[in-house]
Formats: sequence, structure tokens, C-alpha cells
Amino acid sequence: INHKITNAAFPERDKSKKFPGAIIIGVRKGGTRALLEFLRTHPQVAATRQEMHFFSDDKRYAKGMQWYLSRMAVSGPDQITMEKTPKYFISEEAPARIHRMNSSVRLVLILRNPVDRVLSDFAQIAENKKNQRQNFTKLVLTANTGDVNKSYRPVYISTYHIHLARWLELFPLKQIHIADGDRLISEPLQELRAVENFLGLSPYFTEDVVYFNATRGFHCMRRQVQGQDGYTPFCLGQSKGRQHPSVQRWLRDKLEQYFMRHNEILFRMIGRRFKWS
Ligand code: A3P
Repeated sequence: INHKITNAAFPERDKSKKFPGAIIIGVRKGGTRALLEFLRTHPQVAATRQEMHFFSDDKRYAKGMQWYLSRMAVSGPDQITMEKTPKYFISEEAPARIHRMNSSVRLVLILRNPVDRVLSDFAQIAENKKNQRQNFTKLVLTANTGDVNKSYRPVYISTYHIHLARWLELFPLKQIHIADGDRLISEPLQELRAVENFLGLSPYFTEDVVYFNATRGFHCMRRQVQGQDGYTPFCLGQSKGRQHPSVQRWLRDKLEQYFMRHNEILFRMIGRRFKWS
């Protein structure tokens, strides 16, 4: 199979669609939705809201590259096509499949304090399993030893270096922009400008586009909506910014301690540090 497919190989109706020039690969609960929605307001970005789950799901991947292309947003010649699927970051197959599509595609990874990410992940899972009471301490610690449970999925996902290592086997580090999810919450403009720069887009983000909404407790955006004049304010839904479980100091310390050495491996891998403890 020839995976090196160019846009020219596809029928007329897909002519205005391009394969992604950049992909937000994760991490789940890092702020991937906020990042994509902010970027979607940029006139040079074409992206649909939906997560594609194409490179991480065998059934979808089997549908082929043309199917994938047909799912992309319609784009103009000066626009970069994007998609986001947080699952890609932890997927075994996604790096090689994406590399086969386009070895020079730009990758965006948004990371967040790994302990907060575990809590955020837990809060989401607990909400989805409303009928089962979820006990955070029981899940995150191993019963007989009291050690942090490495195989608890949220812990595994927050062990960033394990996943990033797979990407770095195929992609040079400079092709992966690592956005700071904690800063996307507190100072989104800085983070968005860094991404804008990485993607080679014209400067667009200002205080007019991205503003703090005190009622929501988060930054929101003003964007142009088809069929409406001017700019429409838009905030993310209530599923973003959930209440995390309250954890006692000793447990938080234990988790931070656990991630400390994993974070060090990551920092060495990326030549950059985050203030995570
Ligand atoms: P919490 O729900 O833990 O607060 P993802 O979209 O990858 O699932 O990430 C969700 C996280 O995005 C939320 O985590 C929230 O804190 C964060 N976030 C960052 N900027 C945001 C914004 N402007 N509005 C809402 N949530 C935002």
C-alpha cells in the first residue's frame, strides 16, 4: 500500500480538504479542548470540533486515508488543517501511522501537572460512572503496600515520558511543541502565541479574542460565527473545569513524590522543566 498520498489523488469534492498540517496529540485532560477551540478562532486554522480517533483506532484506521481526508474541515489555501485526539499520545500505533501520513507534520502536546491531571481524569471517570461510587484513595494506591498504583490508568497516562519516548523514536523534538496546560488556564495568551509561532501563523490572539470571564472562572473567546455579525462570546461547557476530589496533604505529597522522578526523566528528554512540585 502506498501511504504517501497527496491531496491531488482525491476526487474533486475533497479538493478543498487537506490532511492535517498539525495535530494536537494530547494529553487527555491537559486542556486539549480549550487549545483547539482557541486555535479554531484563528482565521488561518481549519478544524472540526470532533475528535477523529483515526490513528489510534484500528477499525477507523482501516477505513483508509481517503475517509480520514473526507472528515477534515474544508480549508482555504492559506489555512492549516488541524485535528485533536488526546488518545494519540498514549497510543502504541499512532506515532508510526501519523509519520507514514506525513513525516513533517507538526505535533502539539499539551501537558499539565501530572498530579492535577490524575485528579482531573478521576473526576471525569467518576462522572461517567455516576452509579458506582469511586474512591480515589483506593484506586490510586495499591491495597497491600500503600504505594502509588502504577497500573491505575490515570497514573499511567500522567507518566508522560513513557508515551513521549515513542514519539521521539520517529519525530525530532523540534517538531513537537509542548504547550503548558497550567499556563493555558492562567495566561492563555502567552501559550496561544507560542503555538501560533510554532505553526507559522500570523499573530492573531489579543485580549479582544481571549478574555477572562469571572462568572465562568476561565478564559473565554470571541469568535466569528457564520451567519452572525460581529463576534460572539464563547466559553467551554461545564464538563471543562470540574471539581477535583479533595485529597489530603499526605496523599498529594505521596503522588508528587511518585511523579518527581518520572518528571525528571521527561525534563531531560525535552530539555525543559515545568514547575510541577
Ligand atoms: P479540569 O476539568 O480538571 O479543570 P481536556 O479538554 O484536555 O479534557 O482538558 C480539560 C481541562 O482544560 C480542564 O480541566 C480545564 O481546567 C482546562 N482548561 C484550560 N483552559 C480552559 C478554558 N479556557 N475553559 C475551560 N477549561 C479550560
